[in-house]
Amino acid sequence: MRIGVLTGGGDVPGLNAAIRAVARRAFYYGWEVRAIRNGWAGLIEGNIAPLTPNQVSGILHVGGTILGASRTNPFKDKALVRSCLDNIEAFSLDGVVAIGGEDTLGVAAKLAEMGAPVVGVPKTIDNDVSGTDYTIGFDSAVALVVDALDRLHTTASAHHRAIVVEVMGRHAGWIAVIGGLAGGADYIFTPEVKSSLEEVCAHVRRRWEQGKRFSIIVVSEGAQIKEIMQSEEELGDKDEFGHVRLDRRGLGETVAKEIEKRTGFEARCVVLGHLQRGGSPTVFDRVLATRLGAHAVDLIKEGKFGYMAVLHSNEIDAIPLSEAMSQLKTVDPKLHELAQTFF
Ligand code: F6P
Repeated sequence: MRIGVLTGGGDVPGLNAAIRAVARRAFYYGWEVRAIRNGWAGLIEGNIAPLTPNQVSGILHVGGTILGASRTNPFKDKALVRSCLDNIEAFSLDGVVAIGGEDTLGVAAKLAEMGAPVVGVPKTIDNDVSGTDYTIGFDSAVALVVDALDRLHTTASAHHRAIVVEVMGRHAGWIAVIGGLAGGADYIFTPEVKSSLEEVCAHVRRRWEQGKRFSIIVVSEGAQIKEIMQSEEELGDKDEFGHVRLDRRGLGETVAKEIEKRTGFEARCVVLGHLQRGGSPTVFDRVLATRLGAHAVDLIKEGKFGYMAVLHSNEIDAIPLSEAMSQLKTVDPKLHELAQTFF
């Protein structure tokens, strides 16, 4: 047997741990492994080479991905889909493990529907893939956010300021809500719950009157804020999956300026950006990546193509990719409600 492995979309800490697990499980079964470079681009171009035991040695704790990544979408052109299917044949791949988020796994689901021997492993710092309790990378990203909030608390309190912390999270506010809960945020803006600047300003004023002369406000880059709705055109070009670049929105900076203008209290903004995607994976992400990666190979062994390895109630299981892709996993309203208790 020979399998290929690829990583697509934004990188996350834990990808190398997952690649290592896929390869090591395959070697354990006596199979060969091929590295498909730069996500779906590598399958389109035939940028595929042997992945050896030496290449996956010493990478468990390393951030990034030894395979490279891209946001290439083969479904923007039928000829590219054909190239993917042809290269699976040409390189004699009996299975392909696609490690990705909604976009990469969406492609995997469609290829599997066309009969390609593809299985999925969910990763994204956004944690918004359905059917799995956690995606690889989320825990590491949120650990960075909490560390940042701890540091920002002390400087905000020393200077009696509001500090707005912009975090990633395109369609779902998992990083903002879990990071904010663990880091003691005083207000959280997310894509799921439409809030307003007036609300946050009233809250900052109330805290001031109570003698708390600082506030930490967490804002998801994709948050919905009544007074700051931007059209997609304003945000510029889209990627191959139709997403605009949310870092261009400058949402955190706008919120900080508005708070200062409306309350008269000094405010600053910190954008955590790609720091959230860097560094070594946490213990949780290393183990999650190892369990999911190994299970993906087992799915190929069982001929369960079109499935995605998932974590469900601390057990590793699998669900059809089509089911996982049918909707995004947004933040449980109970968590939003819990967070509000501490505003
Ligand atoms: O898709 C995951 C993600 O981290 C989003 O939260 C964010 O909007 C996007 O990637 C940023 O992507 P890029 O690296 O292309 O700027």
